[in-house]
Amino acid sequence: MKSANTAFALGIACLAIGMLGFGFVTTLAQAQDDTVERGEQVYDYWCAPCHNPGPGHPGTQSLEVRYSGTEIPAVLMERTDLTPELVKTFVREGVLSMAPFRKTEITDEELDALAAYVAQ
Ligand code: HEC
Repeated sequence: MKSANTAFALGIACLAIGMLGFGFVTTLAQAQDDTVERGEQVYDYWCAPCHNPGPGHPGTQSLEVRYSGTEIPAVLMERTDLTPELVKTFVREGVLSMAPFRKTEITDEELDALAAYVAQ
């Protein structure tokens, strides 16, 4: 009888640990989703006016000239070569007519999310 109880208790313990593990993994995945979603909001507000596809977007038009004759797309969100670090550097330093963004405009936390979104 005692061993049956022990086995039962062990079973419950394993179940609990398993559920905890599952919960942890889904929480991590959720956190990642939230970051990218936040990054998309920052992008839509600050970057899309210049970097969306099509005419009337100075960032896209400038990059069209810069990368003409190469495989690199002019539209930022179509790039596969950008790392989060590179995105952050351009955003904080600026380039040509793209002014640097201050921390009062895009916080460090928002920049992390933005870089994760653009570089994904
Ligand atoms: C006022 C328009 C404008 C805004 C707003 C803007 N950019 Fe730019 N961006 C440009 C221009 C112009 C360039 C320079 C293109 C070139 O070098 O010919 C550029 C270049 C870049 C580059 C470098 C690409 C390369 O290959 O050299 C990155 C990365 C970039 N922008 C990201 C962003 C992000 C992220 C945001 C939003 C926080 C943003 N930009 C907002 C206009 C803008």
